[in-house]
Amino acid sequence: MSAPRDEDRLLDHKYDDIQEYDNPLPTWWTVLFVVTIIWAVAYYMNVIPGVGTGKGKIANYDAEMAAAAEKFGTPEQQQEAAIDESAVTAALGDPAKLELGKTTFNTTCMACHNADGGGNIGPNLTDDYWIHGNSKKDILTTITKGVPDKGMPTWSATLKPDQISAVAAYVITLHGTKPAVAKEPQGILMTAEGVPAAADTAAAK
Ligand code: HEC
Repeated sequence: MSAPRDEDRLLDHKYDDIQEYDNPLPTWWTVLFVVTIIWAVAYYMNVIPGVGTGKGKIANYDAEMAAAAEKFGTPEQQQEAAIDESAVTAALGDPAKLELGKTTFNTTCMACHNADGGGNIGPNLTDDYWIHGNSKKDILTTITKGVPDKGMPTWSATLKPDQISAVAAYVITLHGTKPAVAKEPQGILMTAEGVPAAADTAAAK
């Protein structure tokens, strides 16, 4: 098809003596234009898998998080799992973890419990008397939840799970050491881990 001459495409209306050409858009342009419209609709309605807005960034994120939670547990569950008793047992046999526990103790706990655990504002952690129990679980609970109204801070927000299990393990290793300056016993006499000696409580509460 040969291109029409300019005169042929001159439109017959005239405004203020000005005439205009009928200049149709090139076919390729029009086709592209229509394709983009179809594409936009398809994209918006998400009819082509993999192309389009999907369910939206937030929904996608939620879906990925849900899938991950199913596989690895929710962040809360992970936190709990990371600081359970087995983590303390593991830390007790791991020199690097005990070292982490020691560093954590010396930076965060020393002020109240003394570097050797002999006690200061907080109770002596080396003796056989415990206010909140001496099992791994008890010690973990005391550290994570704290005893806010008695001056023992809550550490779950400040320390990372591995620091908590490490410092709990370190506290356990302090037991039985005889610090030069030790605070008087507080709490209940525990004859073994988790075993209170019946009716034998320290005079000082
Ligand atoms: C601001 C002072 C303070 C700091 C810091 C502190 N504690 Fe305590 N802690 C206390 C007090 C006070 C108690 C006693 C709570 C009570 O009387 O019920 C206590 C109790 C404890 C107990 C329970 C002792 C028992 O007899 O049952 C443990 C275990 C313990 N702290 C570990 C830690 C660890 C580990 C850290 C560091 C991560 C730490 N504390 C930091 C003040 C502190």
